[in-house]
Amino acid sequence: MNRAVYIETYGCQMNVLDSELVAGQLEAAGYRIVESAAVADVVLINTCSVRDLAEHKVWSHLGRLGVEKEEGRKDLIIGVIGCMAEREAEAIVKRAPQVEIVCSPSRLDRLPILLQNAIENHQFQRATAGHSQRSGVTPSDSADDLEALDSARSYVRAATSAQAFVRVTRGCNKLCSFCVVPYTRGPEVHRPPQLIIDEAKRLVDAGVIEVTLLGQTVNHYAYRAGEVTTSFAQLLWRVHEEVPGIERLRFVTSFPRDFDDETLDVMARSSRICRYLHLPVQSGSNRMLQLMNRGHTIESYMALLERARQLMPDICFAGDMIVGFPSETEGDHALSKELLRVAQYKGCFVFKYSPRSGTVAHRRYPDDVPDVVKKERNLELLDIQSEISLAHNRNKIGQAFEVLVESQSKLRAHGNNELVQIDGLRGASSRKARLVARTRGDEIVAFDGDASLVGTSVRVRGVDATPLTILARLED
Ligand code: SAH
Ligand code: F3S
Repeated sequence: MNRAVYIETYGCQMNVLDSELVAGQLEAAGYRIVESAAVADVVLINTCSVRDLAEHKVWSHLGRLGVEKEEGRKDLIIGVIGCMAEREAEAIVKRAPQVEIVCSPSRLDRLPILLQNAIENHQFQRATAGHSQRSGVTPSDSADDLEALDSARSYVRAATSAQAFVRVTRGCNKLCSFCVVPYTRGPEVHRPPQLIIDEAKRLVDAGVIEVTLLGQTVNHYAYRAGEVTTSFAQLLWRVHEEVPGIERLRFVTSFPRDFDDETLDVMARSSRICRYLHLPVQSGSNRMLQLMNRGHTIESYMALLERARQLMPDICFAGDMIVGFPSETEGDHALSKELLRVAQYKGCFVFKYSPRSGTVAHRRYPDDVPDVVKKERNLELLDIQSEISLAHNRNKIGQAFEVLVESQSKLRAHGNNELVQIDGLRGASSRKARLVARTRGDEIVAFDGDASLVGTSVRVRGVDATPLTILARLED
C-alpha cells in the first residue's frame, strides 16, 4: 500500500502553490495525498514566519503531533517545510526532536529524496539554504535548482480546480525592514517567460479558466536573456495574448514603488485581465514608510491609485497596513486612518507589528509601542475599513455582474441574510448550496445555486451586503 501524506498549509498564496507542487511531486513518486492527518503516515507542515503568531501556531501543532507519535503512532513521519524550516531549523532540532525532515522553500525540489531517506533510514533530514545570513540585496538571478519543482507540475492535480497559481518570481530583494521573507525565500529569481506561458497553456488545457501570476513583488519581474529584458508589463501581455483560454488573468502582490504605467495600460487594454490590484501601503505616514524601507511615499502611492482609477474606473484595490511599527505616534496612526479614508480599498489586511529576528527593524528599532496600543490601533483601522468595505459592497446592490464560482460554502443564509455555519452540506440530498464566488475585482459574493456551478462563471445580481460579502442571486 502506498504511503499516505497529509500536507497542512499555513500562510500566503506562495505556500498554497508550493503545497500543490509538493503534492504533485510526491504523487509522482508513488505516495498518496490524503485530506486528514489522522490517516496519514507522513505529515508535512508548510509553515509561515511572517509574524510571531504564525510560528506559534506551528509550534503548538508540532507539540500535538509529537504527543501522538509518542503515544502510539511511532512510525509517523513529521516534516517541516516552508519559511520556518529555513529560519528555525536549529530551534526545530532542539525543541521538536519528533521532526524528521526540515526543508526550506528554496529546497523543495529535494523533498522526495529527503522523505525516502527518512522512511528508509529513520535519520534526520535537513535541506536549508542559509538565506538567513544574507546581508543585502543580491543581484537578481534567472536560474535556480527550484525550477525543477515548478516544471514538474502535475496537471492532473491542477485539473481539479478552475483556478491556478503560476509562479513568475521566487524570493524577494526588497528588504523591507520589518519582513523576514527575503531571509526565508532568498534572493529574487525570475522564471523565463516561455516557461510561464507554457505552464499557463497546459493549465488551460487541463480546464483552468483563471490564472494568477505570483511573486512577492510580482510587478518587479524582469527576465534578462542576453540584451533583451522582458518586463512585467510585457510578460502580462504575452500571457494574455498567447493563452487566450484564460478567462481571468490576475497577479499578486504588487510593490507600489515599481508599478509602472505600461502595466496599467496593459490592464486597461483587456477585460480578461482582472480589475484588481493588491498594493500593500503599510502605513499612512511617510516617516514610517522611510523607516520601513518601502521606497514609496503617500503622495506617489495615491497618485498611482488615481492613475489606475482614471484608466479603469471599476478597478478594486486591496491594501496591507502595519500598526505599531517602532516609534509610531498617535500622529502617524492618524495619518494611517486618513489614508484608509482616501484610498477607499475594497478590503485591507491590518497587522500588528511583530518584531522578527534577523530583520533590520529588529536590530535597529526597539519594539516600543505597547501591545494594548497596537490592539487599539488595529481595531480602529479595521473599523474604518469595515465601514468603507460595507459602503463599497452596497454599491453592488441592484447591479448585475459576472462572478467565478469558487466553492461551496459551509455557511448558509439564515433569516436576515446572516450567515450561519451548517454541517453536512456536502451530503445534503439537494444539490442546492450556498456558493462562494469572486468578481473580477476580487470581491467575495455569496448566493444560492446548484453545486455543479462550482468552477464556472455565472451572472448574478447583488441583493444585500456585509463588509466582507456581497449577497446575490443568480440571474436567469
Ligand atoms: N510581498 C509579500 C509580502 C509578504 S508579507 C506578499 O506576497 O504579500 C505580507 C504582509 O504581512 C505584508 O504586506 C505586511 O503588511 C505584513 N507583515 C510582514 N512582516 C510583518 C511583521 N514583521 N509584522 C507585522 N506584519 C508584517
Ligand atoms: Fe517582504 Fe517587502 Fe519583500 S514586505 S516580501 S520584503 S516586498
